[in-house]
Amino acid sequence: MTPLFVANWKMNKGLAEAREFAAEFSKVFKSASVPDAGIAPVLSCLPQLQESLGQQKGLLLGSQNVHWEESGAHTGEISVPMLKELGAEFAIVGHSERREFYGETDQAVAKRTSAALAGGLTAIVCVGETQSQFEAKQTEQVVSKQLKASLAGVSTEDNSKLVIAYEPVWAIGTGLAATPEIAQNVHQLIRSELEGLIGKDGAVEMRILYGGSTKPGNIAELMAKPDVNGALVGGASLEAESFNSLIEAGRAAG
Ligand code: PGA
Repeated sequence: MTPLFVANWKMNKGLAEAREFAAEFSKVFKSASVPDAGIAPVLSCLPQLQESLGQQKGLLLGSQNVHWEESGAHTGEISVPMLKELGAEFAIVGHSERREFYGETDQAVAKRTSAALAGGLTAIVCVGETQSQFEAKQTEQVVSKQLKASLAGVSTEDNSKLVIAYEPVWAIGTGLAATPEIAQNVHQLIRSELEGLIGKDGAVEMRILYGGSTKPGNIAELMAKPDVNGALVGGASLEAESFNSLIEAGRAAG
């Protein structure tokens, strides 16, 4: 299975910084015949990255969110056709920051996911428990519930572009990544739940990314686990050198 390493820039980098990143990244990034890396910048930078990195083989550009309607009265949202016009190939859906701070529900995540897949975008659907849920040993329960509800509209046929990201909230931006053992346990659970939701074939093929304080120095041990198929990377993706080192270490270990 081809791994996938995706940069989630969150609300970081305006045009000048994105341009600087692209200039450095294009010098170090080694192309791949099958895409295995991606960047989700702030949308205002997508055209700029498209121009400077769009020709890089193996690199996908995408969005941090997507709406289910094509157009209409949805202030602050962007639709699948609008993203495709910008050259986006994937959308992150249901990130914990959206769930926690902007009231994103599993139902909305499900609609976003279905619309992205129906429109031909790769959907990277995020799930993960909070610190208190982790401490209360509710991880499996929380992740299974989120997964089922978030994939409610996904059919057994329509999932070739589906990617799941397990991101424990307590590991995001804390410098405290999940241990490879914790990640593997949850990824294994996700894969077995996926079997029931979309069938065995789809589940076996599905890329399940880990996210939360990944860096060039810990990606190899995570990737050594059989059900960890890549990473969704925040902080370590903001410097070209660091994101590229993470991709290379991940490729070598995957
Ligand atoms: P982090 O963020 O790598 O900075 O922990 C990951 C994410 O939120 O996707």
